Amino acid sequence: MEQERKFDKVIKLAKSRGFIFPSSEIYGGLNSIHDYGPLGIELKNNIKKAWWQFMVSQRDIVGLDSAILMHPKVWEASGHLKGFHDPLVDCQKCKSRWRADHLEKKECPACGGQLTKERNFNLMFKTSLGAVVEEAQDIYLRPETAQGIYLNFLNVKESMRLKVPFGIAQIGKAFRNEITPANSIFRMREFEQMEMQYFVEEKKAPKVFKKWQKLRKEWYLDLGVKKKNLKFYKHGQDELAHYAQEAVDIEYNFNFSEEEPFKELEGIHNRGNYDLKQHQEFSKQKLAVKELNGVEYIPHIIETSGGVDRVLLMFLIEAYQEIVGGRSTTTKSIKEKEVVLRLDPRLAPIKIAILPLSKKEPLTKKGLEIYDSLVQDYRIQYDQRGSIGKRYRRQDEIGTPYCLTVDFESLEDEQVTIRERDSMEQERIKIGDLKDYFEDKKIKI
Ligand code: GAP
Repeated sequence: MEQERKFDKVIKLAKSRGFIFPSSEIYGGLNSIHDYGPLGIELKNNIKKAWWQFMVSQRDIVGLDSAILMHPKVWEASGHLKGFHDPLVDCQKCKSRWRADHLEKKECPACGGQLTKERNFNLMFKTSLGAVVEEAQDIYLRPETAQGIYLNFLNVKESMRLKVPFGIAQIGKAFRNEITPANSIFRMREFEQMEMQYFVEEKKAPKVFKKWQKLRKEWYLDLGVKKKNLKFYKHGQDELAHYAQEAVDIEYNFNFSEEEPFKELEGIHNRGNYDLKQHQEFSKQKLAVKELNGVEYIPHIIETSGGVDRVLLMFLIEAYQEIVGGRSTTTKSIKEKEVVLRLDPRLAPIKIAILPLSKKEPLTKKGLEIYDSLVQDYRIQYDQRGSIGKRYRRQDEIGTPYCLTVDFESLEDEQVTIRERDSMEQERIKIGDLKDYFEDKKIKI
């Protein structure tokens, strides 16, 4: 039997442990739309928080939350109505749809049937605004969050009294009617982006473009992604999106296929002043800024654009480790394969598990007292059911960095045992020192 791929195991674990569910599952699901479960949303929030802290809190960058729906002219001006499409072919026999640029042969990969001629398929979802059918206006769900930033460029600049250079960051949903969605949350039709647009003078743009490539890679490395699993990919002239002058992707070794193991994680683009110029022309509103010497110019834009979902999938794959033969010494019966999710503790959905050794009164009472003293500061799971070995394994599988056990000695000496996920080292800590202990561990973003 072919060995199950790591990716498939990760997706299975993600479902069984409450990270990712197929959307509308009881109705058979909805192709390439997914929901996040209780642990998935914690992980997602931690990723977004880590990004926000890195991008916004420490630099000359401010935040924004613009609407998903925008004036239909936006997409004319941005070039998405004309240029945001993929080449599509249909199989004349089995009617399946394919992206022409993803096919190696000119036959249907599913049934070998003949394919139609290539035609362009716009990726934007259309809906209508207004309650009266005759008067309703066609509008689009945004395919990138970036345009909302461009439209608010002057609002932000003036209200915050900023001078170029500065950046605007935003996290939000984007929608694309992808022809061939694939690999769980890697390519979806509804997804979330973390985007930053940095406004700068033309002559400084190349340096800023380089700087952001380096900074964004550092963000991944700091959160525990191995260097060997990341690489840059520079787009050739024929691959550039319609708005880009230059583009470099940060790619991750997703390993979906042997032929092409590295896939795009995040794009860093030099968009020139294309977007602001287009919006100035279509809106007839001046979007130029004035320098001290009185010269007016339209700033250039360096963009960093990552997908929250794709980054989350990457962190799950990167963290997933199977230990064949097991590593626990506590229970003989669980000496098979063990799974540990070695997430950076700052990203882990649950920070501390509290596990009383017995489910009887004096220990559970103590456990719940500790729970109450820490729950305001950390996401905690309290679990008193099952063998301690199984409870440790369950926490390892969801990436909980610290398990705290309350035993009979705790009642005498007011100490608990803390076990660290990766090293499995255990130490006895005074209950009164727990707050300082976890504070020192820096497990929160
Ligand atoms: N504003 C620029 C922009 O949207 P992009 O390269 O098309 O650039 C940026 O998208 C990032 O958004 C990608 O690197 C990826 O992480 C994420 N992304 C794009 N399409 C996606 C999809 N269908 N599903 C999940 N993530 C997607």
